[in-house]
Amino acid sequence: MTEITEIIADRRSIRRYKPDVPVTREQMDRLLHAAMLAPSARNSRPWEFIAVTKRELLDKIADVHPYAQMSKTATAAIVIVALPQEGQMEGYFAQDCGAATQNILLEAVAMGLGTCWCGVYPREERMPSIAEIFDIKAPKIPYCVITVGTPDENPSPRGFFEAEKVQYID
Ligand SMILES: Cc1cc2nc3c(=O)[nH]c(=O)nc-3n(C[C@H](O)[C@H](O)[C@H](O)COP(=O)(O)O)c2cc1C
Repeated sequence: MTEITEIIADRRSIRRYKPDVPVTREQMDRLLHAAMLAPSARNSRPWEFIAVTKRELLDKIADVHPYAQMSKTATAAIVIVALPQEGQMEGYFAQDCGAATQNILLEAVAMGLGTCWCGVYPREERMPSIAEIFDIKAPKIPYCVITVGTPDENPSPRGFFEAEKVQYID
């Protein structure tokens, strides 16, 4: 297997982190570099990133997002902010930001860090509270929160191939 194949196979959502091990600025920057190498429709790059290590804000994420309780032990989070496109690229931002998100998750594995993709967009009940915490104003959209930290659990790889989901056309 190549290194990238192993990284893809090893990635799991991590929901428990070592609360005393910080994520450094250098580590955050490496994750953000990976994010910004993602493909996007017509290279529109419809994203911004909020890199959070402030404990108070990590706790606030858990307060408002019922499925982001792991933010309490995470020592960092990246909020991906979508910038909706107009014209020919309209509607592509979710795909573009999803690609950036996945780049972060995979780069984190390569760095020995754990992450969890916590969905925000398009859940109407989650977007306003995350927008408020991070002062994200329309038309910008809080797309997702990625919690980051040193894993304190080691779930086994569990992705699998399903041949029946593939139609081969030769
Ligand atoms: C769009 C999206 C939203 C998700 N939102 C959450 C979430 O809010 N909380 C959570 O714990 N996991 C969330 N996940 C993680 C999934 O539950 C997880 O990827 C899936 O169960 C497969 O497990 P794995 O990531 O360990 O392979 C989300 C994943 C995606 C792609």
